[in-house]
Amino acid sequence: MTLRFELDPPVGPDLRDGVLALWTDVSNAGGAVGFVPPVTPDDIRPEWLRQLTVMAEGRMRLLIGRDDTGAVAATAFLAHNSHRLMRHWVWLYTVMVHPRHQGKGYGRDLLAAVERAARDLDGIEAVRLGCRGGLGLEQFYASCGYKEVGRVPAAIRVAPGDDRDDITMLLTLT
Ligand SMILES: CC(C)(COP(=O)(O)OP(=O)(O)OC[C@H]1O[C@@H](n2cnc3c(N)ncnc32)[C@H](O)[C@@H]1OP(=O)(O)O)[C@@H](O)C(=O)NCCC(=O)NCCS
Repeated sequence: MTLRFELDPPVGPDLRDGVLALWTDVSNAGGAVGFVPPVTPDDIRPEWLRQLTVMAEGRMRLLIGRDDTGAVAATAFLAHNSHRLMRHWVWLYTVMVHPRHQGKGYGRDLLAAVERAARDLDGIEAVRLGCRGGLGLEQFYASCGYKEVGRVPAAIRVAPGDDRDDITMLLTLT
């Protein structure tokens, strides 16, 4: 099986339910996508609504990957900068592959699709992201061509007594 990638899929109940189900399952499996388990789709819905607003304003693009059943199995959000001096690169957020599909190369396929999408954006020269330390994620991004360019020690408090580094990774497109 390969994932079928779609940039800017039509927004509606199918997309909302698919993304919320994925985000919930990834979070509850311990994924570093902004939440700490246990969570329900209702916990994540306000964040989805915020993303929808930004997308509607044209400041963020959504890339999804559907599996062979049509379910949303992977996502990545590409966000433009509003700062006038930083408009030549984009932020990458909420990179995730459903737990049942992890470890099969789909994450790498997802980041290849992100790179293609970013290269198609006018004037974009780099993709930047922040990831949580302690999970090996920097190795995953490095295997996709990203370089570690910064690390803020203990910037992410997952729980009292469990602080993680905030690692900045960069993919240069030029
Ligand atoms: C991170 C994630 C997107 C990777 O997707 P995936 O489909 O499991 O990754 P792939 O199978 O394509 O793996 C690609 C390479 O990265 C490595 N890799 C993947 N996840 C890794 C991890 N957590 N730690 C170290 N290496 C990892 C794989 O071993 C593989 O390397 P190899 O080809 O040398 O064997 C996925 O595990 C995920 O959704 N995790 C939960 C959400 C999350 O934490 N996202 C990160 C937000 S910053």
